[in-house]
Amino acid sequence: MSIATLISGASQLLTLRGRGPRRGNALANVGLVKNGAVLIADGLIVAVGPRAQVEAHPFARSAQRLDAAGRVVLPGFVDSHTHLIHAASRADEYELRITGASYEEIARRGGGILNSVSKLRAATSDALKQRAHAALKQFAAYGTTTIEAKSGYGLDLASEVKILKLHKELSAEQHLDIVSTFLGAHVIPGEFRTRPSGAKDYVSLLIDELLPDIAAQKLAEFCDVFCERGAFNLAQSKQILEAGKLHGLRPRIHAEQLSRTGGTQLAVKLGAASCDHLEKINRADIRALAKSKTVATLLPGCDFHLGLKQYAPARDLIDAGAILALATDYNPGTSPTVSMPMILSLACTQLRMTPAEAITTATINAAYSLGRDKQIGSLEVGKLADISIFDVDDYREIPYYFGMNTCHTTIKRGQIVYSKSSLSAA
Ligand code: NIG
Ligand code: FE
Repeated sequence: MSIATLISGASQLLTLRGRGPRRGNALANVGLVKNGAVLIADGLIVAVGPRAQVEAHPFARSAQRLDAAGRVVLPGFVDSHTHLIHAASRADEYELRITGASYEEIARRGGGILNSVSKLRAATSDALKQRAHAALKQFAAYGTTTIEAKSGYGLDLASEVKILKLHKELSAEQHLDIVSTFLGAHVIPGEFRTRPSGAKDYVSLLIDELLPDIAAQKLAEFCDVFCERGAFNLAQSKQILEAGKLHGLRPRIHAEQLSRTGGTQLAVKLGAASCDHLEKINRADIRALAKSKTVATLLPGCDFHLGLKQYAPARDLIDAGAILALATDYNPGTSPTVSMPMILSLACTQLRMTPAEAITTATINAAYSLGRDKQIGSLEVGKLADISIFDVDDYREIPYYFGMNTCHTTIKRGQIVYSKSSLSAA
């Protein structure tokens, strides 16, 4: 056994313990322990709770000590929706939007996702990897310890495989865990748009060639579709997600972001792991989500960055009993941020979620949406020692401060992967 580590001295320890995922009133339960401690050995949590109890554990005596010095200790964030691999920013389109063009207008003119596709196809794997490594360091610097990552800026076999292989390589080369999702159905690529049966042909290519190849190489766990006007309609989304399921890939879906397509109810019918965006959902969609185990993943960073006024109806979803998660949707077009604390700030001010609800949805519920709630998302014995320490006295200050980074230390599998300054170790 390697040397154990004992973290103590937190002003607040949020364990998020209990049977996850949380719905309704339970979302506000962050499992706060006063004068708590966490004992780590071999990357796992071996004891957690009131300090006296944790210190009685046989490993505690010889453990190296990390003094949290009055800061707040909680599980590392689980960012369950990102588009990690892309070649460049789209700052040009950002400026166009500010001066009046809409996201969809820019996309119709061949910008948007297609802009990122041409840049990605032209980029080398090495350049993409370097950019992703830099982003992953930033994710860790904001307290995130696991991310989901989608392909979707390749849109041909070679380029999609290039992205998905990078997910695997990056997972092995740095500390954060990366959960891989195949999003070949992001938009119809340019080379198919000039043909009369282009959309149909591209869906067939996805189903007959890309999905079987990617599943055989075990390059993805989930299959996602952008179900939206200008992308994939409901029937095409159903076809693709069902084909993914046959290959063992669980569905996720981008639904009701800019228009209502019916993607939410499709997701529920297919038993999708998550249904993401949801700005345009109606009462029936909310009821369907509430009765299901499909996680409603809200991405307020998109509305903020696009300057849209209509955020997803988080309170209605919570009141109805849906399982909510929050994620960054880190991508170059609609949400260029890796900061979960910023997403929490938006959730509180724009979605009217309380700080406690926001933290629950960014940890244990997000872990559930990735099928990893038994391993991560809360500080409980047997789980990975994935922990973030924030330089605040009260957990409500994590969303309260915005546009500044209050993350002090990030620990992945028991190892410090980010530290603002060295913690006092005695
Ligand atoms: O989640 N909606 C589709 N995909 C991304 C946007 C992609 C882009 O504009 O590059 C999203 O918002
Ligand atoms: Fe997305």
